[in-house]
Amino acid sequence: MKDKYCDHLIHGADYNPDQWIDTKEIWDEDLRLMDLAHMNSATVGIFAWSMLEPAEGQYDFGWLDEVMDRLAAAGKKAILATPSGARPVWMAKAHPEVLRVEETGLRNEYGVRHNHCLTSPYYREKVRQINALLARRYKDHPALLMWHISNEYSGECHCELCQRAFREWLKKEYDNDIEKLNFQWWNGFWSHKLSSFDEISSPKFRGENHVPALKLAWRRFTSDQHISFYENEIAPLREYTPAVPVTTNLMRLYTGIDYHKLAKKLDVVSWDNYPAWCERPPVDTAVETAFVHDVFRSMKDGKPFYMMESTPAQVNWFAVNKLPDPGVHVLEAVQAIAHGADSVQYFQWRKSRGGHEKFHGAVVDHYGKEDTRVFREVAEVGRLMEQLDAVAGGRTKAKAAVIADWENSWAIDVYCGFRRDGRDYFGVCQSWYRALWQRGVACDVISMDADLSGYDLVIAPYLYMLKPGAEDALVSYVEKGGTLVSGYLTGLVDRDDLCYLGGFPGGRLRELFGVWVEETDALYDGERMPVIYNGKTYTSRDVCDIMHLQGAAQLAAYGERFYAGTPALTAHAFGKGKAYYAGSRFDDALIADFTDTLINETGLTPDLDAALPPCVTARRRGELIFVMNFSAAPASLPLGHTYADHLTGQTVSALALPAYGYAVLEEMKN
Ligand code: GLA
Ligand code: ZN
Repeated sequence: MKDKYCDHLIHGADYNPDQWIDTKEIWDEDLRLMDLAHMNSATVGIFAWSMLEPAEGQYDFGWLDEVMDRLAAAGKKAILATPSGARPVWMAKAHPEVLRVEETGLRNEYGVRHNHCLTSPYYREKVRQINALLARRYKDHPALLMWHISNEYSGECHCELCQRAFREWLKKEYDNDIEKLNFQWWNGFWSHKLSSFDEISSPKFRGENHVPALKLAWRRFTSDQHISFYENEIAPLREYTPAVPVTTNLMRLYTGIDYHKLAKKLDVVSWDNYPAWCERPPVDTAVETAFVHDVFRSMKDGKPFYMMESTPAQVNWFAVNKLPDPGVHVLEAVQAIAHGADSVQYFQWRKSRGGHEKFHGAVVDHYGKEDTRVFREVAEVGRLMEQLDAVAGGRTKAKAAVIADWENSWAIDVYCGFRRDGRDYFGVCQSWYRALWQRGVACDVISMDADLSGYDLVIAPYLYMLKPGAEDALVSYVEKGGTLVSGYLTGLVDRDDLCYLGGFPGGRLRELFGVWVEETDALYDGERMPVIYNGKTYTSRDVCDIMHLQGAAQLAAYGERFYAGTPALTAHAFGKGKAYYAGSRFDDALIADFTDTLINETGLTPDLDAALPPCVTARRRGELIFVMNFSAAPASLPLGHTYADHLTGQTVSALALPAYGYAVLEEMKN
């Protein structure tokens, strides 16, 4: 597959014209409005199964033919969905096995969506059939751009079919050797020893829920079962439309599926972006969203991703659905493109007249015309995207990376110890990312298995579980000259949650960091530990690793309790590189100060030659540098040298950005 799925940036929306099948004048109006909004694509058929197969084996593609033909005639691309995200009622009534069983053992009744059994052979077969019909029918259709598989895969099923599949999965994982499993799950403890795989069930509140390795295995299985469901879905598409790329829309940092593993099977990574702009200072939301964009960009080695959904107004599912300020939507789109998105798409094109989502923001309101604030902002995004079109397909790689690993997040969720609440693994990763973001230094966000060789700086916070190979990869990265930052509760367990013996951090990491963590103290909520660094006092929270230096140098010290004066941050020259160990969850100010040192030492360069005000950041994509102000207050900044303003053609040596303003710069050409 190419880096570029389409020659252009995609501006589009979930388009559900089946809601308006009896009012064709709305279908006509849709296309007129799409032109006015500068939209070049529409995502169709996401939950259309009952329209496509109204009764078992009776199909009706006529309406979809017409939609596809109308889109093609209007010069628009179709992202065509497979309908497995919601089932027709007839199917659930006649074949209840398609319905998910809860952890309690109760089977769901028909309703809502996103809740099918992951294993049911009948459901898998039906999905395959309908996908094959879609693929055969539209394989040569001029509108077809991409496949959108199902919708937001998520959840788990505890039915007997899934239990059996889980046991088979475990047999493969543990070489069909129950004693191997007993050892790795440490089942001798509390009489949990099993004599056969048949004795195993999914973790349950009223059953086995105190074996962390079982919980971990169940999460791995559920994730794999989603992936195998996906593979079943795409098989007919690969057969009939091998050149048409496939995606499925992912959900932020949803941990029910290992997104890194799933991404390997996708041609295009795409995700649904619904930031809570109004709940917190916009800069906090901007950092979190930037992080997620970078997670998805990094999944395919810097290849562009799609922002498959977003809303140009408010959602309907927060407790309070406040309207974002004017300009926020355009800035959200600019941010996505700056971080590598090749699309800005919405849920949905036109507000539903009835049903659950009728008050969810959409491009076209119930009012039905183009003279609305939201429509004007969407059209502005469309015009802007036409000016930025040259970036489409461009791959972006950074020289710094933060490791944020799905399996590690699971392992952190399931252990019992130190502190029960607020482990917040991805939040910890984001606090390191934030310091780079504020300095305009580009950062990839990668899994523990990623190739580290291209990075000058790798930050791997809270690496509690070491996957096979991780130890060697980290050691060899530093040996060859890399700079690594890791820390607290790092290197405690292996892939099965068995602790390393002989001192933490485990395996070769002690040698790498030059420290031995003898004990770990836990702090109460709200309790802070003073940390003295560079003559200043900062704070840390959550836990404090109490360390002995074994070759490392001490850079910061704890300020209280029996371990006052002992190392809180250490540095160890190792091979040609350097390994830092941060013993606690540092506050943002300490991370920021330490990041300045890291940037100086590694020679990382910011994407813009300027001192950035607190809510402003800059991100380079190809030739363009996007400067964004995530604040309701204007911001001005002098530039270190003159740039060309890509949008106005003028030469600029300073920027005055309005509230939620942005600029797109490029280096001056001689
Ligand atoms: C998700 C779904 C959409 C829609 C939106 C609403 O992202 O994929 O179908 O329900 O949420 O925000
Ligand atoms: Zn099931």
